[in-house]
Amino acid sequence: MSLLDKIDKTRVPRHVAIIMDGNGRWAKSQGRERIFGHSHGVESVRASLKAATKSGVEYLTLYAFSTENWNRPKEEVDALMNLLVQTIVGELDELDENQIRLHAIGDINNLPTECQVELQRAMDHTSKHNRVNLILALNYSARWEITHAVKQIIEEGTSPDEVTDELFSSKLTTARFPDPELLMRTSGEERISNFLLWQIAYAELYFTQTLWPDFREEDFFAGIVDFQSRERRFGKTSEQIAQESNNDITSDAEAI
Ligand code: FPP
Repeated sequence: MSLLDKIDKTRVPRHVAIIMDGNGRWAKSQGRERIFGHSHGVESVRASLKAATKSGVEYLTLYAFSTENWNRPKEEVDALMNLLVQTIVGELDELDENQIRLHAIGDINNLPTECQVELQRAMDHTSKHNRVNLILALNYSARWEITHAVKQIIEEGTSPDEVTDELFSSKLTTARFPDPELLMRTSGEERISNFLLWQIAYAELYFTQTLWPDFREEDFFAGIVDFQSRERRFGKTSEQIAQESNNDITSDAEAI
């Protein structure tokens, strides 16, 4: 039996974000170079997209390249950029067939030109779709994004009382998307690593030992099943939550 059958389709997180981690360790365990792990990670990207589609997740954000990743050896950075371009170009038909819309967040203008061109082409090409939104975080870091938003607010001459949660959110690169309700990280590391710091204020965090290249549909479903076992309180008491769910049941019954 698949874990998909255990998922309550009425309580699926709309937005799942993933920190894909463990490619280097996976490659090392096979006696190979780090890029071998990244290449195998593409299969896990496919599996996650399929799992998102099957379970009804509408937004999937993947941390594909962080601002800090520029500090890696040049060969690894070059190989990662090549892999990104190849994957975007190679998977375009598949994205199209499955009605997946591609988006990017991060400091995109500072990516290599070829990467920017292919990314833009794929985003334009898939802009008509809305079954699943695949959001690639590229040259992204949350502190970069927050600093960028603050600069914009100041440049626009906004007065302090106009600065609200909503206004701030509207200046982030994620302005078009709902906040993630579930953040997963693979490989046993339990850190956020400068990812979506503002947006995950109320997200559930799910950490799995699985290394990213081994991550498959069932691992994704396991994260959702775990998410559904949590009580999400948003600062309220358990009693208030129970009362609200009783009210929902009563109003559903009245509607019938
Ligand atoms: C972290 O593993 C992974 C990355 C920095 C890159 C992830 C990129 C891909 C899977 C490539 C394809 C992606 C897309 C969206 C087309 P790590 O190298 O930090 O692993 P380690 O912690 O074991 O060293």
